[in-house]
Amino acid sequence: MSLIAPSLLSADFAHLAADIEMINKSEADMLHLDIMDGVFVPNISFGFPVIESFNKLCTKPLDVHLMIVEPDKFIENFAKVGASYINVHYEACTHLHRTIQKIKATGAKAAVTLNPHTPVCLLEDIVSDVDMVLLMSVNPGYGGQKFIEGTLSKTVQLKELIARKNSKALIEIDGGVNLETGKKLIECGADVLVAGNFVFKSENPIETIHKLKQL
Ligand code: DX5
Ligand code: ZN
Repeated sequence: MSLIAPSLLSADFAHLAADIEMINKSEADMLHLDIMDGVFVPNISFGFPVIESFNKLCTKPLDVHLMIVEPDKFIENFAKVGASYINVHYEACTHLHRTIQKIKATGAKAAVTLNPHTPVCLLEDIVSDVDMVLLMSVNPGYGGQKFIEGTLSKTVQLKELIARKNSKALIEIDGGVNLETGKKLIECGADVLVAGNFVFKSENPIETIHKLKQL
């Protein structure tokens, strides 16, 4: 059974309290929060005061996906406002090993994220240090995009790398996840599925989360 992390980016921002209430009642394992700075990705989302408010309402761990340049500057801030997982992009970190240690020092779990064009083999010397690897299955910046099929073989490669390195890292996939792509991803070895549009644009999000949970 996989872990499910609904992405709040696709929720109705005028009713966030109700959506978090829904997440609390659902079988979701964590809440995925997308932080965008308008530089690393061509979009801007939300920041610290908003996460802090979510943390007060949400009973599930917060999985914070940083689509920002120079994430090192803000790691303590994200930990302070309640992030359980802090995901930094491989492409945004010149000194990734240092960044990962910095995340761990706050007590948060450390995750590294790869864009669709970034090969899994680049994680060879860091995969044993992280709690989770997030593979982007769309180009980051927006919800509701089409799943990139090449993510399936990357998931298999990552599973092999994790086993070879005796790493305990979970494999998380983000972008275009639905029941069809989710099923294939689980077969390839994914542990955590992020789903934005598929959950929040569905008629019954609690039921949709339940169905994803059954995959
Ligand atoms: C994209 C974000 C995703 C996004 C996924 O940049 O990282 O978390 O919300 O949305 P869907 O599931 O709709 O592709
Ligand atoms: Zn995300």
